[in-house]
Amino acid sequence: MHIDIISVVPELMQSAFAHSIMKRAQEKGLLTVACHNLRDYTTYRHAQVDDYQFGGGAGMVLMPEPLANAIEHLKEQKTFDAIIYMTPDGPTFNQKMANTLSLKKNLLIICGHYKGIDERIRSLYVTHELSIGDYVLSGGELAATVVVDAIGRLIPGVLNDETSALTDSFQDNLLAPAVYTRPKVFQGLEVPEVLLNGDHKKIEQWRAQNALERTQERRPDLLNE
Ligand code: 6GU
Repeated sequence: MHIDIISVVPELMQSAFAHSIMKRAQEKGLLTVACHNLRDYTTYRHAQVDDYQFGGGAGMVLMPEPLANAIEHLKEQKTFDAIIYMTPDGPTFNQKMANTLSLKKNLLIICGHYKGIDERIRSLYVTHELSIGDYVLSGGELAATVVVDAIGRLIPGVLNDETSALTDSFQDNLLAPAVYTRPKVFQGLEVPEVLLNGDHKKIEQWRAQNALERTQERRPDLLNE
């Protein structure tokens, strides 16, 4: 998969993709991420990319021409399966969307800043909009890193048996069960006996039960989806 990201602060995202599983995905050649600076695509003086909003009101808006220039430039090089605008007024990103997007080939992600982007870019180019939750961030960059991480780890071949996504929370509309490692007793708390006896069938049953109980307790809404 290849992901292009357009932003006014691309530096904000670089290190998020340079470690751990995102790093391995790129080293394996399964994922490439290219962050593009919107200011490279403006023809306005002083590399201007934003302006006051028509009608008045607080906050700047990203102007349509630099965004259109950047999008058109990238579209000349590849066909995008989705052009995603990161915005708090979009549908809330979830695991199911991550699963779907992880099977795409080329994604373009647009990060807004300030009050957002000119509505005409949304009308003309954007195919999907995503929010990561009901709160407002200063820009779409941190949200984009969340989405790229969630998608990237699901790309076939990125995770191995050790890190498999099949047992993640949300994969079956269930939260993941509790996990334990050494030592067997920590500050008086013991690891559940069943996990120590090597009976894999019993262990699977315990995990399934624990996942169900956790979900009922913490996120009963997931069980009704
Ligand atoms: Cl995608 N962008 C911004 N600016 N704030 C957000 C968001 C996105 N998702 C939740 N809050």
